[in-house]
Amino acid sequence: MESQTETHRKQKKWLRLLLFPLPLQGHVSPMLQLANLLYSKGFSITIIHTCFISSPKYPSNNPHFTFHSIPNGLSKSECSDADNLVALVSILNANCADPFRDCLVKLLSEVSDEPVAGLISDSTWEFTDSIAKSLQLPRFVLRTNNISSFLALAALALLQEKGYLPIQESQEEKPVIELPPLKVKDIPVFKTQDQEGLHQTIAALVEQTKSYTGLIWNSFEELEHGSLTDFRHNFPVPIFPIGPLHKYFPVPSTSLLSQDQSAISWLNKQAPKSVIYVSFGSVANIEKSEFVEIAWGLANSEQPFLWVVRPGSVIGSEWLEPLPKGFMEEIKERGHIVKWAPQQEVLAHTAVGGFWTHSGWNSTLESICEGVPMICHPCFGDQRVNARYVSDVWRIGVHLENKVDRFEIAKVVRKLLVEAEGHEIRDRILQFKKMANQSTQQQGSSYRSLESLVSLILSSQSQRKL
Ligand code: UDX
Repeated sequence: MESQTETHRKQKKWLRLLLFPLPLQGHVSPMLQLANLLYSKGFSITIIHTCFISSPKYPSNNPHFTFHSIPNGLSKSECSDADNLVALVSILNANCADPFRDCLVKLLSEVSDEPVAGLISDSTWEFTDSIAKSLQLPRFVLRTNNISSFLALAALALLQEKGYLPIQESQEEKPVIELPPLKVKDIPVFKTQDQEGLHQTIAALVEQTKSYTGLIWNSFEELEHGSLTDFRHNFPVPIFPIGPLHKYFPVPSTSLLSQDQSAISWLNKQAPKSVIYVSFGSVANIEKSEFVEIAWGLANSEQPFLWVVRPGSVIGSEWLEPLPKGFMEEIKERGHIVKWAPQQEVLAHTAVGGFWTHSGWNSTLESICEGVPMICHPCFGDQRVNARYVSDVWRIGVHLENKVDRFEIAKVVRKLLVEAEGHEIRDRILQFKKMANQSTQQQGSSYRSLESLVSLILSSQSQRKL
């Protein structure tokens, strides 16, 4: 049967989609993966983007897309001082609204043989809702976290009303009756001086969900069936769980930082399933005292380790200065530290037996896709929910629940890599790997959802006055 792409191309009329990612690694990657996927379905792609921290390499990696850069009004120093994610997202929303509108108006007014079919924006760009409505442009939204964590975010107002918030240390282990299996310490809170303002923003974003033309998730039906059922019950909006987005076909690197390939040459020298890979993603920071405990925990585990230490991620340090004296001598060839790794390649390497992660959604999904069991060490927001689902619902990892402590770390690393419990966890995650990979193949649930998304984009476009 002829695919939609072929029909499109035969008609010689390409439709253009405008995509607008949030300029953070965990958001840029899935948006560019989605862009490549929709390009493969016959759409022309324009990426409207704003630089942040470093100039992105992805325009040169994706010459088949058109890029338009808009200013974000942040100085270089404001970018590098931006360790408060909530404040940063709020400033970006305030500063980018006008430049985005101007860019959109210009793009829509240009005479082109590729009419614009719609906008796909990151869910965190709050202002795109009213701008798209005023320009009568269908607005699709990509949520880069998962359905379970969204439902927890959507329940924040209720949890506040019920007295769970602000979280009291003495209550952390108690169950959240309204959101099983979450404990109070798993509620997706963020550090900010203005909790009230943040809750209002989240409530507004949740409310907007109901008026999206379509909502795209980087997740898949088999993984989050229960949460998807709850979501469908509460939010009557067309939804498309089409993940894992990176698994349809290889796409050019979406990394904002240079990936150190020495990670792979070092892994090539290690025994199968022997290495613990450690990375806390692109945003999370840790205290010096935690860094030292991690170092000794890895040393005491007596297992080989590949450790990503992002420059600036240890609070108050440039890179490895707080490493204990004599540490590297003690470790010798057993450990390898890099600033940024080719993570997907690392997780797919036969030497990797476990992933100690901050439980960001991309990292979690990438680990599932390669069948690598996890040690979950969430820092904030959705990571807390992801970690609870990994350890207690899907049972494909262990939760490092307590304060970071070298003895506990060594014990958990050995449990995952060497002990029988680790083998059972690996067997379970291999089942999930199979489901994930099947979902993106023809007739898989995500593939079918993608076809429905393409149909909805085409029918929404035909209703728009071009
Ligand atoms: C953020 C939030 O922290 C996360 O909770 C939310 O789900 C998405 O936005 P981030 O902290 O960057 O994301 O974590 P994650 O979602 O795991 O994304 C990190 C990405 O960086 C992954 O795609 C990973 O492959 C990549 N990465 C990480 C590298 O390429 N190299 C590295 O060394 C580390």
